[in-house]
Amino acid sequence: MELKKGLEDVAIKETSITFIDGELGRLYYRGYSVYDLASFSNFEEVAYLIWYGKLPTRKELEDFRKLMAEERKVPDHISSFVRQVSRNANPMDVLRTAVSMMGLEDSRDGDTIQKAIKITSKMPTIVAQIQRTRRGQDLVEPDPNLSHAENFLFMLHGEKPSSTDVRSMDVSLTLHVDHEMNASTFACLVVASTLSDIYSSVVAGISALKGPLHGGANSEALKQFLEIGSPDNVEKYVLSRLSSGQRLMGFGHRVYKTMDPRAKILREYAKQLSTEKGLGELFEIAQRVEEIGIKILGNRGIYPNVDFYSGLVFYALGFDPDVFPTIFASARVVGWTAHVDEYLKDNKLIRPKAIYVGDLGRRYVPIDER
Ligand code: CMC
Repeated sequence: MELKKGLEDVAIKETSITFIDGELGRLYYRGYSVYDLASFSNFEEVAYLIWYGKLPTRKELEDFRKLMAEERKVPDHISSFVRQVSRNANPMDVLRTAVSMMGLEDSRDGDTIQKAIKITSKMPTIVAQIQRTRRGQDLVEPDPNLSHAENFLFMLHGEKPSSTDVRSMDVSLTLHVDHEMNASTFACLVVASTLSDIYSSVVAGISALKGPLHGGANSEALKQFLEIGSPDNVEKYVLSRLSSGQRLMGFGHRVYKTMDPRAKILREYAKQLSTEKGLGELFEIAQRVEEIGIKILGNRGIYPNVDFYSGLVFYALGFDPDVFPTIFASARVVGWTAHVDEYLKDNKLIRPKAIYVGDLGRRYVPIDER
């Protein structure tokens, strides 16, 4: 039996949701290039596309938006829980537990996508509650008249965001919606394949996304830029980090061997937002890290990934670094649930093998003789 460490290059299902061309650095949702979707579409339309496989008509989109907006409120006891623990707890732990609590209220049966819509609509409300609690601020109720991205920022700041902020948030969410068989999506499928429920799958997804090799990399990348402090320190920092065996966070990918297209798009939003919000030097630092990182690692196919610039976008929009992975989760929940739905149409229990390398036939030694 062949051992495939990290399941590298192992396919576990067929999909018509997302295609990644890792050599050319291209990404397609349901056959549409993310460049087009980031330029012309929006989060709700892309979520509809991912879940239902086609772009909605105007009427379908209107109804879908309304449905999502109506689902934004979170039950009071979940908000109280978020208030109680968010000052000190890791935001991903709070989000994971809040989604788990949501599962207590919903029946096990029913349509996966209908449940997915509920979860996706509520996650930004929980994230905004986490962020505001960390700052000692009161909670802001969702506004059903605003788009998903605009409402997210409204609940964060308690005031209507600028159109640049809304666009940046919308594009960031759109770019995080799905990414084929990443670790968190796989975790969701492992749970779903046992015929567990969708809330349990999403909890598994959040748990896997939390790690710094996956969705936790966005906050780590931003913390790097803050630690560097000035563009003049970049070269020394990168060299010393790499020579001490540490990884450059926001660099490298299992599938992309060139620049991640999402990083290219987010770089432009990071640039615009940082200039507007007096964070120009932080953007300069990031750009310099990109340049030097590519010079050193590019020949091994290690380039900036989505997390490299997304952190800067989220920071400029007013989120704390530790909260960034919860924004990632709020978008990726669309892909998680779409893959679960697709997988369950032809379910097979996920149960791989391990190659045993231990001893056999050992004599049991009574405890007094050991
Ligand atoms: N900095 C320095 N070296 C790196 C990096 C990096 N960011 N990424 C990979 N390498 C090296 C690694 O040290 C190894 O070298 P060697 O062969 O000499 O031991 C080689 O490249 C292969 O690395 P690997 O970990 O075996 O490859 P992988 O496909 O399992 O890694 C990765 C993918 C994302 C875990 C890795 O690139 C990494 O740790 N990156 C930093 C964390 C990060 O930015 N994660 C976000 C991933 S993309 C979006 C997401 O999923 O959230």
